[in-house]
Amino acid sequence: MKKNFAIAVIALLSYPSFSQNDIPSKAKALLAKMTLAEKIGQLNLIIPGGAAVTGSVVSSDVENKIKNGQVGGLFGITSPAKVRKAQELAVKGSRLQIPMIFGLDVIHGHKTIFPIPLGLSASWDMGLIEQSARIAATEASADGLNWAFSPMVDIARDARWGRISEGSGEDPYLGGQVAKAMVHGYQGDDLSKNNTIMACVKHFALYGAAEAGREYNTVDMSRIKMYEYYLPPYKAAVDAGAGSIMSSFNEIDGVPATGNKWLLTDLLRKEWGFKGFVVSDYTSLNEMTAHGVGDLQTVSAQSLKAGLDMDMVGEGLLTTLGKSVKEGKVAVADIDKACLRILEAKFKLGLFDDPYRYIDEARTAKDILTPANRQAARNIAAHSMVLLKNNHQVLPLKKSGTIALVGPLADNKRNMLGTWVVAGDWRESVSVLEGIKNVTGNSVNILTAKGANLTDDSLFAKRTNALGIEVEIDTRSPQAMIDEAVAAANQSDMIVAVVGEAADMSGESSSRADISLPASQQNLLKALSKTGKPLVVVLINGRPLTLVWENDHATAILEAWAPGTEAGNAVADVLFGNYNPSGKITATFPRSVGQIPIYYNHKNTGRPFDGTGFPKFKSNYLDESNDPLYPFGYGLSYTSFQYSPVKLSRTVLKGEEKLTASVTLQNTGRYAGEEVVQLYISDPVASVTRSVKDLKGFQKILLQAGETKEISFQITTEQLSFFNYDLKKVWEPGKFVIHIGTNSSEVQSAALQWNK
Ligand code: NOJ
Repeated sequence: MKKNFAIAVIALLSYPSFSQNDIPSKAKALLAKMTLAEKIGQLNLIIPGGAAVTGSVVSSDVENKIKNGQVGGLFGITSPAKVRKAQELAVKGSRLQIPMIFGLDVIHGHKTIFPIPLGLSASWDMGLIEQSARIAATEASADGLNWAFSPMVDIARDARWGRISEGSGEDPYLGGQVAKAMVHGYQGDDLSKNNTIMACVKHFALYGAAEAGREYNTVDMSRIKMYEYYLPPYKAAVDAGAGSIMSSFNEIDGVPATGNKWLLTDLLRKEWGFKGFVVSDYTSLNEMTAHGVGDLQTVSAQSLKAGLDMDMVGEGLLTTLGKSVKEGKVAVADIDKACLRILEAKFKLGLFDDPYRYIDEARTAKDILTPANRQAARNIAAHSMVLLKNNHQVLPLKKSGTIALVGPLADNKRNMLGTWVVAGDWRESVSVLEGIKNVTGNSVNILTAKGANLTDDSLFAKRTNALGIEVEIDTRSPQAMIDEAVAAANQSDMIVAVVGEAADMSGESSSRADISLPASQQNLLKALSKTGKPLVVVLINGRPLTLVWENDHATAILEAWAPGTEAGNAVADVLFGNYNPSGKITATFPRSVGQIPIYYNHKNTGRPFDGTGFPKFKSNYLDESNDPLYPFGYGLSYTSFQYSPVKLSRTVLKGEEKLTASVTLQNTGRYAGEEVVQLYISDPVASVTRSVKDLKGFQKILLQAGETKEISFQITTEQLSFFNYDLKKVWEPGKFVIHIGTNSSEVQSAALQWNK
């Protein structure tokens, strides 16, 4: 009997090839052969020790669990050899020979590292963003992996939150476009190909709205705010076909996301039609106990019934579901549903056709960190950089003369990759010093000095260094370091100061209450500024910073983010004009931390402040402006662009008619350059209050010096629609204002009437 069964299973597993339509029936047939314990085993995702952990628990007894059919997938291991060994345990050692899925935090590249996602989004170039994910998928699959814990699409309006670096900033429309591009990049058009991998959209949901920007903190918001501003990027990723989604650490309406039925079933599956599987975040199921909703058995049963399919690391499902079934607290049918979704994902990935499909030792050398991948990383990094200031056109720099290249990040590889890089090796990265030498050859005389520590605060340094030494505190005194940098500056024509954050001063568990440059670096910049030499500040960092002094005193500021493997080359390309910067920030830069949360698509209030003086009893501050330092969508170019007034194809419309709004854009400067032309719409009167304006479209346009182009946007009632009080997406007739411009504050506007 047993033997026949085994033959039947092997026949099933080695079924030559089947169409994607056969998957549900194949998965069901396999499910029918499984014991309850084996079904529960599929819901278990663990991490072997020694891998990149993001919690206090690491899995134990991994080999035996795999052989016993108690593991559905592994994450945190790389290299085909290791993946093969683990897959063999599952396929040769377990009764049903069900292959495992192999995941990893492939966040902004696998081994060729691209800019942090906040930087990627600042490129506003969906083609390049998709390319970065495509390359990441090719490299990750060449390392034996088939599942990426990306894209992270959490909207963030609070720069104190370290993980603002991992997402696309504050705007739901842009966030949705990026989500779509990333999912397509990872998954391609056929998940079963050996160079496409399954995306995992995270963190579902609202994780970016943690109170006070403190990591893992409580989230509480109205449904309208969720639907209008926070949920669209997850929805866009689901619509793009993302195969999996990760539940978040936070609570929603008082129920932790991992056990929230409204979220995981009513919204995700019933309303949005999601067909993939849901995995928890790292022990987020177990953490429901600390949230205060019950013991492990209770929260495991709750989560499964809420719609969770796979449990990351905590093994709550593995260890309690059997008991819960016996006690009648969980139905086998619920376990079946979850198990089926995991099996279906494995069928989609082609793992039942060939469990070793993604394991090809030859590909590692051929596909990873190739010159072409590095070239793409250099190009994408250059496109992500944002020119924040450029007085007297000091940039681009001439490839001659003497430059003082100073700052703790000037000759530094360790911090170029940014946060959340599991497989990338910082030793592969190009420092800014190396990049400048590569780009200028011997034509520029470079004097270097560290000038300052990333921070002199040893406790801050120690906390930043929790995962490895990123901040090294020099044995010299801060003053001696500054003196050296000032001496270099005095002998130079100009100063390039590379300052900012260590890689893990932003990212997970890296919230900051003070988001200015650390004092050591501010002191350096102050001393440099006193020399009177032109001061170009290059920022390497993972979040919007408060930069009022820097903006007042630096001659130029280039926001380079954490640019990735090709950091230095890309910075040099931009500084010396090989690439004319075109990035625009996707998260507002506040003037001071007290303004947070600050974001462009805010409401008007009943007592709006027009920005002048201090009218009492208006919505303003006694001691700070309402305006940000740099608004959403802001970024300069080496050239200049001029916008004509907005032209509308008509000013009165009806029903489903279409509107064309256009501007004439002229490159009025001396260089060819790209401009991100942004379309915003305001709806001044509606049944619920609306934002002052919302981004509804954008186009990235290349214009030669002197060139003029007409830029048009087609507008339909879809772009007028919003979630009303009953959470129905509607548009209401009346007046609308169309704004087109270079950032969310500087726009040309025209009004129209749109009737039903
Ligand atoms: C916790 C993080 O929140 C999540 O983004 C990541 O994918 C997992 N750890 C796995 O490393």
